[in-house]
Amino acid sequence: MFGEAFEKKVDEMVARYPQPRGAVMPLLHMVQEEEGYVSPEAEAWIAQRLGLAPAYVHGVTTFYTMYRTSKQGRYLLQLCTTVSCMLRGCDNVLEHIKQRLGIEEGETTADGTFTLVTVECLGSCGTAPMMQVNDDYYEDLDIERVDALLDALERGERPEPGPGPCRVLVE
Ligand code: FES
Repeated sequence: MFGEAFEKKVDEMVARYPQPRGAVMPLLHMVQEEEGYVSPEAEAWIAQRLGLAPAYVHGVTTFYTMYRTSKQGRYLLQLCTTVSCMLRGCDNVLEHIKQRLGIEEGETTADGTFTLVTVECLGSCGTAPMMQVNDDYYEDLDIERVDALLDALERGERPEPGPGPCRVLVE
């Protein structure tokens, strides 16, 4: 199902755990990074690779919100719309993204580059409004910063993410 290089990385990951089942979450992450989401075929492949029931792997996939079970854009834009972000203008940011990309929430651009969803608090309220792009947080957003971010992503660049959610605690 996957190439030789990927299989090698999987072998290395599984070898880190005393019990193969311990590698189920890292393998789900690896598959998601490789394919953009976790398909039923990928779940079955992981189950077979780790000696687990497919239902067990599916249970893990669907329990955690960070695993995607359907095909999405190359960049998953998760804009927080909870109170702190709302008070600091996430509605304007959301409308701007929708207009710029020509999609509604839950949709993917025709070229498969962006999927847009809104989410509940991502724990970065001190730097609201914020948006998670794949695994990275981009914070203190306004229209200008969002445009710069989307411009860079469209060029295939990956701008440096903003400060993490615990910035205030660690400073
Ligand atoms: S309210 Fe948006 S990160 Fe907490």
